[in-house]
Amino acid sequence: MTFSIAVSGKGGTGKTTISALLVSLLKNYNGNPILAVDADPNSNLNEALGVKAELSVGRARELLLENRDKLGPTQTKEEYFNYLFQSAVEEFDGFDLLVMGRAEGPGCYCYVNNLLRKIMDELAGRYQLMVVDTEAGLEHFSRRTTRDIDILLVVTDPTAKGVLTAKRVGDLIKSLNVGIHKVFLVINRVPPQFMDKVKDLEAASGLKCIAVIPEDSSVQEYDLAGKPIPDLPNNSPALKAVKALVEKLEIPQFQKVKP
Ligand SMILES: Nc1ncnc2c1ncn2[C@@H]1O[C@H](COP(=O)(O)OP(=O)(O)O)[C@@H](O)[C@H]1O
Ligand SMILES: [Mg+2]
Repeated sequence: MTFSIAVSGKGGTGKTTISALLVSLLKNYNGNPILAVDADPNSNLNEALGVKAELSVGRARELLLENRDKLGPTQTKEEYFNYLFQSAVEEFDGFDLLVMGRAEGPGCYCYVNNLLRKIMDELAGRYQLMVVDTEAGLEHFSRRTTRDIDILLVVTDPTAKGVLTAKRVGDLIKSLNVGIHKVFLVINRVPPQFMDKVKDLEAASGLKCIAVIPEDSSVQEYDLAGKPIPDLPNNSPALKAVKALVEKLEIPQFQKVKP
């Protein structure tokens, strides 16, 4: 069984940063690579992780539509797409990365999307753990395009808008009864003077807060300099807070993160 953690929330609240930290702390999960999925079309999980992604699934879908009439007699469309899709799964140290991207071109993607769902299931089944950096909107939940998720982390910053989005995500999930087992709030970028406000933010979100991540100037510095987030120094407050978060997630058979 694949244990899956998805990270959602309003844009700009820190989903990608937190996803990258989770990947770096959970990679080599029980000795195996984990699957990192960048499911945000506007995202840059690969950059946050400091790796290059050559081919997105969106581009693979376009290539299939562009080349479907040029396939040789021995290759079916499904085989060709499977080949493209497998090429989109890139291997790195301790994790594999799949970037979903976006299909830009015109044309009907229903056929490919159905194929995609099947291949995604097969792919996910090969890993014991996956971390998904999701898109900011709620559509993917209402369209039920997400697979079952063990833990959904809803990230907010200490703002009314962020908390409102978090509440909407929580309410939507409850009303849809989608296959999400646990939902937690993560309050990110909290400056020291706001620490006493986190209880109020938690109450307003209607979700249980599992982690408070401080505003950390080194995160911003690394982002500005294009340095990989996993290289943050051990004394980085954000890194420390995400380590504590991982400990609390109760991921099956996961060996404790070393300090
Ligand atoms: N704990 C933090 N302290 C300081 N800056 C942060 C923190 N978390 C995220 N950031 C910064 O906030 C911005 C948005 O983060 P990002 O992870 O890209 O958000 P999202 O993926 O939700 O859009 C980035 O510039 C990132 O460096
Ligand atoms: Mg992002």
